[in-house]
Amino acid sequence: MITVVGSYNVDLIIRVEKFPQASETVFTEGVKVYHGGKGSNQAVSASRLNGRVTLIAAVGNDNYGEEAIKFWQEEKVDTSYVKVKRGRTGMAYILVNRKGENMIVVDRGANSMLTSSDLDGTLGKVTLIQLEVNMDVVKTALTKSHGVKILNPAPVVSEVRSLLEMVDVLTPNEIEFMELTGTNDLSYGTLVLLKRVNKAVIVTLGEKGAFLATRNRAFRIPSPKVKPVDTTGAGDVFNAALAVALHEEMDLEDAVSFANKVASVSVMTEGALGPTIEEVRKHFEV
Ligand code: RIB
Repeated sequence: MITVVGSYNVDLIIRVEKFPQASETVFTEGVKVYHGGKGSNQAVSASRLNGRVTLIAAVGNDNYGEEAIKFWQEEKVDTSYVKVKRGRTGMAYILVNRKGENMIVVDRGANSMLTSSDLDGTLGKVTLIQLEVNMDVVKTALTKSHGVKILNPAPVVSEVRSLLEMVDVLTPNEIEFMELTGTNDLSYGTLVLLKRVNKAVIVTLGEKGAFLATRNRAFRIPSPKVKPVDTTGAGDVFNAALAVALHEEMDLEDAVSFANKVASVSVMTEGALGPTIEEVRKHFEV
């Protein structure tokens, strides 16, 4: 089983020709509402790849929360440990420009009400965590989990540095990597992180693929070239695919290469969720 501990947000995707600058007003080309939140995106995307997934998350006691639970059930994600909190469901305001790039502002709502005592379920063979929930929840999940622990440090919060010894696989994107290490030198920065992270640091590089570093080797694994429509959630889909691959005991290099392919398919359509394994197979051999 894969356990995802993380957030749910209603995503308001606001399409613009170009991002506004400070003090500038722009018109939107259309607004759409999707299910989002890094935890939910990762759980649903892993389930779509045939992973058996349990989600530990919190929603508000509003219609959005109800809809989220229905959605997870349709997507075959186990919701036994989803908590309904008195308050509003998380909401993310996402600008997407013509190049498919995004800017995101999150109102955490119920996500910030998830507590350590909500982690009463058994954590699976692989546990996948991000940072849109409180740090004590992240710490408890890392402490309680006895399987492979993947931490996607998104968005970076400074306290995460004190937890790195508990992490097996750390998966920052380039911005998060820079925030964590203070350098954009991948070889050097991953070496520094590997003094504390147990097994591997994988830096996701968007269209350039991902940089995989372990104590023995460090190299870039390229991604297939595709035309992006919306890159929102590509990192979530990558993490989901990585969790599924590591759950199936693929080696790290094959797991990253699989995750690159799945993430590439995900950016060809709008929204933050990943493709099913059948959709991936239409494009690539996996
Ligand atoms: O990683 C993309 C996600 O970040 C969006 O779905 C949004 O909800 C924010 O959590």
